[in-house]
Amino acid sequence: MSAQPNVLLLVPPGWGGLWQTPLSIGGLKVFAHGVDAFDPATIDYAVGFRPPPGLLASLPRLKAVFSLGAGVDGFLLDPQFPKHIPLIRFVDVTLSREMAQYAAMHVLMQHRTVNFFEAAQRDGKWRQRMLPRATEETRVGILGLGEIGTVCAERIRDHGFSVSGWSRTRKHVDGVKSYAGAGELDAFLAQCDFLVCVLPLTPDTRHILNAAAFAKLPKGAYVINIARGGHLNEPDLIAAIDSGHLSGATLDVFETEPLPEGNPIWSHPKIIATPHIAAITHPSAATRSIIDGIAALERGHAPKNVVDMTRGY
Ligand code: NAP
Ligand code: GLV
Repeated sequence: MSAQPNVLLLVPPGWGGLWQTPLSIGGLKVFAHGVDAFDPATIDYAVGFRPPPGLLASLPRLKAVFSLGAGVDGFLLDPQFPKHIPLIRFVDVTLSREMAQYAAMHVLMQHRTVNFFEAAQRDGKWRQRMLPRATEETRVGILGLGEIGTVCAERIRDHGFSVSGWSRTRKHVDGVKSYAGAGELDAFLAQCDFLVCVLPLTPDTRHILNAAAFAKLPKGAYVINIARGGHLNEPDLIAAIDSGHLSGATLDVFETEPLPEGNPIWSHPKIIATPHIAAITHPSAATRSIIDGIAALERGHAPKNVVDMTRGY
């Protein structure tokens, strides 16, 4: 690197130290937004999650933006996002594995009827039962067969489930049936006993988990959303569970985060809610990839994992 690039760090208050120290050790001059004074005219790179709208457009020397998350909807929501600048998303094997762990864990918990045995233990009763449905006959569908969805599909397949995935383009993943495009969505939904959403949030996928989609799922299907809250119409989900059509849901992401006090999801007996922790970006992996990415850009190389602005992911 010729001169020391200036980086503006955009992370929630209190989180700066996790990123600032390793990025500085990696040779970058880091200014934490909201903490350090900085001259907007000198910032070369921005790194973070969800910048305040208009901020990035006010940095005249900006060369690239690095997302600390796999999802970049928080950047593209900014109507002034400078779309001529590369937006680089975080792709990481550990992140994908941890998402797959979460998805597989919640499929397995329902499949192995953990609730039933917890209730039996609470009652002090030795209640044996068979699995309600054989593993190979249990169909798990993954919405989104990208970096993370593919690992989710492979891990769940390895547990013996019958796995399929839906994506924009056709995929070839061993033992995973591929459905592609809007024209195959209904056929995909019709064969999902579990539906796991790992799509990016774009105008095309907003509220894709809605009453019409739930009606196409088999009766008793279970929904797992680990993508973004904006994918789910929450009242439609609650109505589909309360009508008995869906058996329940696991939600890690919500339309409003933190999930507001009093939201019916908090107390719904058939919904498991977690606070957007399906996978959290590990600072060591993310700072390494940002340091390497900036070094490559400074040498004039094309960056990896650049978001396609027309697709929105
Ligand atoms: P990715 O590699 O970009 O994959 C996205 C997948 O979605 C691709 O298979 C893509 O199809 C498909 N897709 C996008 N739009 C579609 C559409 N309109 N119709 C059909 N398929 C469509 O993304 P990723 O790295 O797997 O990440 C997925 C999302 O996970 C992120 O955007 C983020 O929101 C979420 N996430 C959540 C957490 C958490 O803790 N809860 C953590 C990490 C990530 P093609 O391959 O055919 O283009
Ligand atoms: C987390 O939600 C991410 O997008 O990485």
